[in-house]
Amino acid sequence: MEPLKDIGGPAQPLLTITGLVKHFPLKKDPLGRGGGVVRAVDGVDFEVMKGETLGVVGESGCGKSTTARLLMQLIEPTRGEVIFDGREVGSRDLPLKEFRRQVQMVFQDSYASLNPRLTIEDSVAFGPQVHGVSRRESVARARDLLARVGLAPQRFAERYPHELSGGQRQRVNIARALALQPRMVILDEAVSALDKSVEAQVINLLLDLKTEFGLTYVFISHDLNVVRYVSDRVMVMYLGQVAEIGPADALYETPAHPYTRALLSSMPSMDPDNRTEVAALAGDPPNPINPPTGCRFHPRCSIAAPLCSRVAPERIETGSQHAVSCLVHEPGSGHPMAQPQPFQKQAA
Ligand SMILES: Nc1ncnc2c1ncn2[C@@H]1O[C@H](COP(=O)(O)OP(=O)(O)OP(=O)(O)O)[C@@H](O)[C@H]1O
Ligand SMILES: [Mg+2]
Repeated sequence: MEPLKDIGGPAQPLLTITGLVKHFPLKKDPLGRGGGVVRAVDGVDFEVMKGETLGVVGESGCGKSTTARLLMQLIEPTRGEVIFDGREVGSRDLPLKEFRRQVQMVFQDSYASLNPRLTIEDSVAFGPQVHGVSRRESVARARDLLARVGLAPQRFAERYPHELSGGQRQRVNIARALALQPRMVILDEAVSALDKSVEAQVINLLLDLKTEFGLTYVFISHDLNVVRYVSDRVMVMYLGQVAEIGPADALYETPAHPYTRALLSSMPSMDPDNRTEVAALAGDPPNPINPPTGCRFHPRCSIAAPLCSRVAPERIETGSQHAVSCLVHEPGSGHPMAQPQPFQKQAA
């Protein structure tokens, strides 16, 4: 596999997502009531830079997995555009089959992702064979990868998924994702089901493989500590939208969105001098069928003003690569905590 070529130069986007929307239609009942849509992803824009790890966090149901499935083209977007390395996914420039080789996904459920009737060697060799690699070459590649993820092929190649532990199965899933020599891997809660010590091993394996194969990761997890550890940048989602996105250190040290602050304050801190004063999040997020008007976070926000229920915030840059959607950060928004409108020259 090719080494990372982009070291040194300014970061280039590998993936650019613009205006991504996924509304799942709801079935009407026999009397024709209901209908409507679940606004699972509702206007999401972001980039993933070559060679970086973008972490994605947010409460259950905020649209992380739907975003991942849209990126993978496993489901059709309602609207929006996915550009991969400058080419539109699904266009003549970049047919789906070619894109699907270059972007792979690893899910949480290590068992469900594997065919119980295939040996793990055959599971890992399957993808390359589908993509036209010879059986011999596919098996050789599978054995190399099994060794690389810490499963000695002499011992493990002929085993079946049920003969492995959860951590071992997840290593097989990682090997399987890498067998197609992808450029990007989307990890959706890929380590969340593992015991803490096994989780740490698999995370370190992922970081090693990333360097070795020059990969780009999208790393989705509930675990804010793990996300900080692995990510270069982090995106915080709330009810199908991006609340905040920025470099991991900046986002964790100076979170700009009240939702990010609340999320972080609910995170167990190792340091007794570092207990935050921000109120932790109360209650569950509202229903994505009928999201709140204005800023979607306003019903749970400790600094919401009346305006927040009427006006949807725009995305504002608050620092280098750091952006937030909150009226407090929008100069002239009218929020009592916002800066006044910057001076504008009157037209002559
Ligand atoms: N196929 C579907 N049909 C209808 N609604 C769906 C479908 N898939 C997801 N949803 C809804 O879309 C919203 C976002 O779901 P999603 O699975 O993307 O959230 P998530 O952030 O991955 O949550 P979790 O942290 O629990 O994995 C949820 O309200 C969910 O119920
Ligand atoms: Mg999910």
